[in-house]
Amino acid sequence: MKALEIAPLLRGLSFGGEKGDIVVSKAKIDYAELTCSADELAEKFEKGMHSVIVEGVGGFLLGEDYDDAVNGTSNAPKATGRAAVVNNKVCVVTGGAQGFGEGIVRELIKNGAIVFIADMNVDGAKKLAAEVNAQAGRTVAFGVSVNVTDEASVQKMVEEVVKTVGGIDLFVSNAGVLKAGSVKEMTLKDFEFVTDVNYVGFFLCTKHVAPVMELMNKPRGNYFTDIVTISSKSALEGSNKNGAYAGSKFGSVGLVQSFAKELVADNTKVNTVCPGNFFDGPLWSDPERGLFVQYLKTGKVPGAKTVEDVKRHYEAQVPMKRGCDGEDVTKAILYSVEQKYETGQAIPVTGGQVMLN
Ligand SMILES: NC(=O)c1ccc[n+]([C@@H]2O[C@H](COP(=O)([O-])OP(=O)(O)OC[C@H]3O[C@@H](n4cnc5c(N)ncnc54)[C@H](O)[C@@H]3O)[C@@H](O)[C@H]2O)c1
Repeated sequence: MKALEIAPLLRGLSFGGEKGDIVVSKAKIDYAELTCSADELAEKFEKGMHSVIVEGVGGFLLGEDYDDAVNGTSNAPKATGRAAVVNNKVCVVTGGAQGFGEGIVRELIKNGAIVFIADMNVDGAKKLAAEVNAQAGRTVAFGVSVNVTDEASVQKMVEEVVKTVGGIDLFVSNAGVLKAGSVKEMTLKDFEFVTDVNYVGFFLCTKHVAPVMELMNKPRGNYFTDIVTISSKSALEGSNKNGAYAGSKFGSVGLVQSFAKELVADNTKVNTVCPGNFFDGPLWSDPERGLFVQYLKTGKVPGAKTVEDVKRHYEAQVPMKRGCDGEDVTKAILYSVEQKYETGQAIPVTGGQVMLN
């Protein structure tokens, strides 16, 4: 067996009712409370052990959080009940460097999670990680590089997470792109670009994350894990001149339902959150390239003279009269993690704009 398999098994063996220990893989450690072969691990490991050497594989440091595992200085937050939904759990957020992803990262950390910010913009991911680590005064975030459309890159990212902390409790597949346009004019290249990131990317991530979650569940059989993809209200209702996007998001609901049926055997739940528009995020509000500026310039909203006019026009279409944000989305993610009796669902967070039927 390899370290990448042993680490999730150790996280599963140390399971304490909600999650296992953080498990840091090391090629070599000098001393360990337990030295054994891979075959003996399940029988000889005892909860509370901080160091293990698996013969022929390597060393593993265990702890309540990352700092506890690496140097025994734990400031891991204590939480019970609803507050413990992601406390000291390992979460990965793709596209976490900005927009909804950044909001989700910040909210998960507020709730005590350890978060890998996985983004093509690795500088942005590392910058955000450094900021939230400094605020928290302990290691709560890591920036990692990934292109979700490239299988080798996804595999490398998952391996890096597993090597660093031993597993993944919640994977948020958030990276997504939008290119709008009439079906009569859109190029195949643009259509494929949107489909690759939003649809194929979710498949590739699930393909490489699900086996890690399976290993974590193996020792005890009651370790629940979650995959949540961020789709859109356009996963529930068609979007005019935006077919590539809506098609990719509708498609991801099909993947969610199918993966959920398969992965329930590993106690991995698969759900999707379908947010409304994030008017205050970069996609809409970027002062140069945001949709509000573009719509003002192209006169898409009749009578609008300023960006604020355009924004008000769109806010008026939401029954709750505002856009969605990362906090709204994270509440739905936390619900799907906390809820142990539901999988394969699409959860709208649209301020009442789109309703299920
Ligand atoms: N903004 C909205 O109004 C809105 C509404 C509903 C749903 N969504 C969905 O929410 C998610 C986030 O949207 P956003 O508007 O916050 O996006 P954004 O454009 O602000 O940020 C997307 C992030 O994903 C990263 N990214 C893009 N392609 C990637 C790839 N191939 N691999 C790895 N990282 C990649 C970018 O670097 C960026 O950091 C998307 O799935 C989007 O479809 C957005």
